[in-house]
Parts: sequence; structure tokens; C-alpha cells
Amino acid sequence: MVEEEIKVLLIEDEDFDMRRVENTIKPFDNRIKIIDVVSDGKSALELLDKKRNAYDIVIMDFQIAGGLRGDLLIKKIKDFDTALQIIVITKMTVNITDYDFAHSLIEAGAFWYCTKYPGDIEEYIYQPTDFIMAIFNAYERRKLIKEKQKSNQKLNRNVEDILTNKKIVGISETANKLREQIARFANSNAPILITGSSGTGKELVAYNLHYSSGRKYENFIPINCGSIPDQLIESELFGYEKGSFTGADKGKPGLFEQAHNGTIFLDEVSELPLSAQVKLLRVLQEGEVEKIGRTEKVKVNVRIISASNRNLEEEIKEKRFREDLYYRLNVVPIHVPPLSHRKEDIHYLIDYFMSEFSNDMGKEMPVINEDAMKYLIDYEWPGNIRELKNLVQRLLFFDEKLIDSFIIETALGKKIQSTETILSTDGISFKSPEGILLLKHMERNFREKYFAYVRQRSESDSEAAKKLGLAPPNYYRMCKELGLK
Ligand SMILES: Nc1ncnc2c1ncn2[C@@H]1O[C@H](COP(=O)(O)OP(=O)(O)OP(=O)(O)O)[C@@H](O)[C@H]1O
Ligand SMILES: [Mg+2]
Repeated sequence: MVEEEIKVLLIEDEDFDMRRVENTIKPFDNRIKIIDVVSDGKSALELLDKKRNAYDIVIMDFQIAGGLRGDLLIKKIKDFDTALQIIVITKMTVNITDYDFAHSLIEAGAFWYCTKYPGDIEEYIYQPTDFIMAIFNAYERRKLIKEKQKSNQKLNRNVEDILTNKKIVGISETANKLREQIARFANSNAPILITGSSGTGKELVAYNLHYSSGRKYENFIPINCGSIPDQLIESELFGYEKGSFTGADKGKPGLFEQAHNGTIFLDEVSELPLSAQVKLLRVLQEGEVEKIGRTEKVKVNVRIISASNRNLEEEIKEKRFREDLYYRLNVVPIHVPPLSHRKEDIHYLIDYFMSEFSNDMGKEMPVINEDAMKYLIDYEWPGNIRELKNLVQRLLFFDEKLIDSFIIETALGKKIQSTETILSTDGISFKSPEGILLLKHMERNFREKYFAYVRQRSESDSEAAKKLGLAPPNYYRMCKELGLK
């Protein structure tokens, strides 16, 4: 491996001391290079500004003539580049037990300091081995800081990508208010409860809250409380220790532990069984998780965002949801209104999804004529933005010429007359404009409509799964595959 050069800027106003520094590092001059020497602080800053990234380490004499020096100079150098490491040389008379002085240097940002060498005054600036070690260590520290900066930049870019992907589209007052609430509440640690009907964008709001918060580099753990069977929910959320029950041959960290320092998103929180509600309440009160089979508790720092499309106050009346838990979760309420209350967003959402999907499919973005657009705006959208998104995706499989008439005559025309018809199995055509459909496409069409039909008639995912005779996780996965989630 070729060793990298360590590039030094020396700030020293006495030729005699400059020579002593050069002498001290001489045995390592293949690695440590003094690139420039300046005699005052102002010239040093000018040089740093002009030759950015030209140096790894600044070695500076503390007592130099001229205005800018000492702590202030150290601070200014750090302002240029926090990764730059500074080694300070002070005069011999500085008391070697003057901790306040040492502290002020470190506070200002110095990496190390040494007093001029009392012995061998002609040759060395400081005891050579210590001096050299300090330079190497300072260089390693610079490398670590640089790497950290690079990975933070990468993380930042990832977070930006996620936020772009999860953008809240719309110009309505509702959309503006949502963005404003996200900005206002993201950084508090208070639990947030997001309410609103199905498909309005609750999950989207939760993502935006996490990735706009100080927790954005930590985990965001979404969990659909309705998709985990009752008997597994506690072990999923809180984990268990090895041997805590038959079959537990390995321990398992719960989702709360995985979300440590980050955010947990309890989607469809009304589906939590009462026993898990008690435990959740305890986590909220004490910040501790009780793992199955373990006596000590595990401390967790987790921000809790929950969402529900059911009226939780009704659930409390029916004794299906704990009132004390409700107040704990609902510290900051965010309500996401249905699409029919923000019709001015419809046009924007259609354009947005059209452009996204046609981009994915490598297709030219089709234009929807005014008449068809009017249908889309007048339509009530019981499935809200999810329904709109799915419709746009479907439209893109049509030939552009047929899109408008499809909207007006087949799909929404019928839907507008009666929301019932779209949800029943009629309206499934065996043919697309291109001809007979493949069996797999036909099956997919059927499943999509059938699943939507059953879900509309169920209070929750778990109820829909039961009606379909599916295990909830399978139901959830199939919905995802069909684009219903
Ligand atoms: N304002 C918006 N801009 C862009 N996309 C949106 C917007 N609102 C919702 N969506 C998209 O619509 C779909 C449904 O949103 P989301 O899953 O957040 O709804 P939800 O309220 O959680 O629904 P459910 O109660 O059924 O779980 C997602 O694909 C989401 O990205
Ligand atoms: Mg959701």
C-alpha cells in the first residue's frame, strides 16, 4: 500500500523555530511534508481560502507577532474546514500544569499542544517521537472525520431521495396544512395520531414526519397492527428471549428495539388486541420494553406515530380500545381529510401519477381531455388517493386514444352512477382494446376488484382477510402485489 502524504501548513514567525520543526520531522519527511510556511494568522487564512484541501494539518506557534493568533486563529481555521487538525506549539514558559490554558486550546478546536522542547534547544522543537506520533494521530483523526462526513452526505442524499419519492402532492389548503404540520411536529418527540379514511395518505404523512425529523438516519419501522395474528403481536412488538417458550431456540428483538432512536409507525392501531394495548401503554409510560421471558426491562427511545381509519372514540365506547392509551397516543392529532374535500388537488395528483407511471413504463405521458378530466374531478373517490393512483396506473395500459372514452364510458361513468357497480365483479372485461386478455392478467383484474370489494365492506384488513379465508400476512402481501396497499 502506498502511504499517503501528510500535508502540513506551518505558521511560524521565527526562522530558528521553523528549522527546529523541520528537523524534528526530518526522519519522516517521506510522509510528512511541509507544503507552506507563513509567519502570521492572516496570511494563513488567506492561503487556506485560496488552496482549499491543500493541507491535512496546521502546525502553529501560539505566540506569533501580528494581530490574528491564538484561540481566535484556531477557531477561524476550524471554520474553514472542521476536518483540518491543528497542533499548537507554545513557549517553554507555559506552565505544564496549566489546565485552563490547555482546556481553552482544546475548546477552540486544537487537536494537541506541546511546549517547546527544553533540552536540545538547537535541534528539536519538541521531543521528536511524541511530536511525530501527534502528527500521525492527527492525520488519522482527519481521515475518520472525512469518512464520517462522506457517509453523512450519502445518508442525507438517501433521505432526500426518500422525501422526493414520498412527496405530498397538492396545492389545496389541506395539502399545505399537512406540510405545515409535518414541519412543525417532526422534531418534537410527542406521539402523533394520524386519522383519516382509507387511502387518504396517512402512511405518507408518517414517512414525512420521520424523514423530516432529527431521527431521520435511524430506523423507521412501519407495522400494520391488523396484519399480524393476535397471538404473535406481542412477540413481534416486544421480542422474546431464547428459551422463553417451547420453540424459542433463538431470542428475537422486538420491533420496538429495532426502532430504538428512530420511529415506530403503528398503522391501524385500533386493531391491537387489548393485551398488547396494556403493554404498549407501559412502554409509553416508562420508556421500557418488557421482553417475553426476561425480568429486566430493555430501555428504548422510540418516537411513536400511529394511524387509524376507524373512529377510536367509538372503539373506546365499545370497550375495544383503552381510553388511557388513546390519550397517550393522541398527544398531537393530525387529520388527513378525504380527497373529495380537496378537489383542487385531483388535477395535480393525476398529472403527478401519470408522469411517474409513464416514466416507469418508458411511455409518453398521455393527455386527458377536458371532458374526461371533469369526470375525474366530479367523482367522489371513496378510495381516495389510493383509488386515484390505481386508476391512473390502469389507464396507462390503454392506448392513448381510448383513455378519455374509457374514463367517461366504462370506468368512472359507471362509478359515478353507483359506487356499488365498480365494487362488484361486473365491469370485468375479457378483452382489452388490444384483444383477448391473458389468463394471468384476467386473474389479476379479478383479484384486484374482488379484494377492493371485500375490503370496502370490512372494517379492517384483518376482517377482510378473514372473509377471504386468508391469513392476514398473506392478505397483506397479496394486496401489496395488487397495488392495493
Ligand atoms: N398527497 C399525496 N401526494 C402523492 N401521493 C399520495 C398523496 N396522498 C396519498 N398518496 C399515495 O396514495 C397511496 C395511499 O396513501 P397511504 O398509503 O399513505 O394512505 P393511508 O391513509 O395510509 O391508507 P389506509 O388507511 O388504507 O392504510 C400511497 O401510494 C401514497 O403514496
Ligand atoms: Mg395506511
